[in-house]
Amino acid sequence: MISQETIQQILSRIDIVEIVGSFVKLKKRGANYLGLCPFHNEKSPSFTVSPSKEIFKCFGCGKSGNTIGFLMDLEKYSYVEALKWLANKYNVEIEETEVSPEVKLVRHTADSLYIINNFAQQFFSNSLFHTEEGTDEALSYLKERGFREGIIEKFQLGYNPSAKDTFAKAALAAQYNTEYLQKSGLVVIRDDKPADNYRGRIIFPIHNQSGKILGFGARIIKSNDKAPKYINTPENEIYVKSKILYGSYFARMAIDKADECLLVEGYTDVVSLHQAGIENVVASGGTSLTPDQLRLIKKYTNNLTIIYDGDSAGIKAALRGLDLALEEGLNVKLVLIPDKEDPDSYVNKVGAQAFNEFVNKNKKDFILFQLEVSLADAGNDSAKKSVIVNQVAETISKINKTEEFTRRQDYIKQVAEILKIGEDGLNALVNKFIRDKVTKEEYRSQQPAKADIDKSSSNEQEKELTVDTLFNKDEMSERALIRSLIEFGNYTWAENQTVAEFLFGQVADNELDKMIDNKALLNIYNIYKIWYEEGLKPTSKSFLYHEDRDLNSLVISLMDANTEISPNWKEHFEGHIATREELFREEVLSTLNYLKLRKIKKMIEENQRDMEHAGTENDQILYLQTHQQLKQMEMELTKQIGTVIFK
Ligand code: CTP
Ligand code: MN
Repeated sequence: MISQETIQQILSRIDIVEIVGSFVKLKKRGANYLGLCPFHNEKSPSFTVSPSKEIFKCFGCGKSGNTIGFLMDLEKYSYVEALKWLANKYNVEIEETEVSPEVKLVRHTADSLYIINNFAQQFFSNSLFHTEEGTDEALSYLKERGFREGIIEKFQLGYNPSAKDTFAKAALAAQYNTEYLQKSGLVVIRDDKPADNYRGRIIFPIHNQSGKILGFGARIIKSNDKAPKYINTPENEIYVKSKILYGSYFARMAIDKADECLLVEGYTDVVSLHQAGIENVVASGGTSLTPDQLRLIKKYTNNLTIIYDGDSAGIKAALRGLDLALEEGLNVKLVLIPDKEDPDSYVNKVGAQAFNEFVNKNKKDFILFQLEVSLADAGNDSAKKSVIVNQVAETISKINKTEEFTRRQDYIKQVAEILKIGEDGLNALVNKFIRDKVTKEEYRSQQPAKADIDKSSSNEQEKELTVDTLFNKDEMSERALIRSLIEFGNYTWAENQTVAEFLFGQVADNELDKMIDNKALLNIYNIYKIWYEEGLKPTSKSFLYHEDRDLNSLVISLMDANTEISPNWKEHFEGHIATREELFREEVLSTLNYLKLRKIKKMIEENQRDMEHAGTENDQILYLQTHQQLKQMEMELTKQIGTVIFK
């Protein structure tokens, strides 16, 4: 935690014009400043900054906020990251409360590594541009490949001289500590002496989101069988490969604007495409995408386009991570570059315009691509084909967010056509995979609670849990209520009242929180309410990155509309082809009514039990009256819902 004093110090120094002005070109207009909005594409400026109110507002896209909000929106920082960025900018030393010695040590190491990397980058740039060996061996090589000085400087490329310890000597002379130098991967101990790890190599610094150098990729100049083509920084406190996408620092704004992220394999692909003016591009280093990398992309866009060379060994690796991308709701496309070219050589050959045209024309849908590849593999082997049907159904089942229903149906249609199988059959198979997954998740998240309640049930029985037994009507109604809240909470219910506000009122009035038996669902309700009351507008996305993994997978499964619709709702509206969006009022009301009815039924049962033990005749009459009142309420509710439902 950053101490309150530090926060105050930072806030007191904020100059919104200066901060925003370092990202957006601002011109003074009266009391305000005006510029081109960084959050949407525009030709004439509608983005204003008011220094007196300390806010920005865009009249084009409507985005507005304070300085911290600006940094959070633009740089996708968390609140704390934005504060740290400002602290760094204004030289405010961050005072933190409650930092453990272990954390302090890691931080200290991380800080030292950043400083060393910074020093190294300057050293390598200097040797590339200002030493004879650098210009003769390395700069000339880069220029031969078509890299111009502007782009070399922008990406801070460098050169590590070929003598055994030029860099190590310089670093030691500058008082850097050998242990950290080794940790950084820049220096190794050879024959008991510190020596350069990347000697004779072109250096690609690897930046994090905010431009700090995490590590380096070092490319050999003349390929040689004995030495690897690239040497990369070893994993350390700041270089964690699974969290890094090369080029993300330079690409982030372009990705945001284009609403698309291009993914290539290599360092040189990124640099060349940038040079050609295609800036929304990052590289994964040819390995399969990790969840952290996917999240990094998802901060900026839902559209991922993978551009690999046609015969790259990396394609398979890239495809491997992609079911996960679908689960996260990413739209994945694939483009293969022909004729043994890679994006770097291809853009150099045909130019930016033709490159873009090629990509746009040849973008293949990832699922259909995967299907084509495996079908070609399978030939006429029908056993293999049935494996493929299962695989593709499973892949499609990963697209299971509410808002993606149409997309999933589209796939089912197309895939059924390609496979020449019936659409209904494929649909059923996809649904089976969804159910299996939901059941597993649900089963997992319910384990502890179930063990408490139902100690007698044997393992055997638990294993046999099916969707039907798990999602009885009560549970499904509770799920439907929470889902309505998350999905429609920000919709308008009545004048000056959102759906969320309406539901909060209903839940309080009817004590429904006591009726939500499922602890995990109640927890979601409470978190939602806290967020809502803090002025956030929570959506399913707000839960997606919640640190509690069980919670976020429960929310994901809740948002899975097609497999489980509130039972009463479904039967009530059977036959109508209307989207859930259009029917949200009905869904909310009927779910509420069902829960209310359930509560009344419980009260009737209780009342009946009490009646049996009533002492006096007077008591009995009272219970009877209550019974009649409750029955009356039950009847009215039942009428509202439709008798069909409660047989
Ligand atoms: N790579 C690596 N280690 C290797 C080979 C490759 O880390 N020994 C990673 C690098 O990130 C590299 C990417 O995989 O950028 C793609 O490899 P490759 O296509 O061989 O290299 P290019 O980036 O195309 O480099 P160049 O154009 O200079 O050949
Ligand atoms: Mn290449």
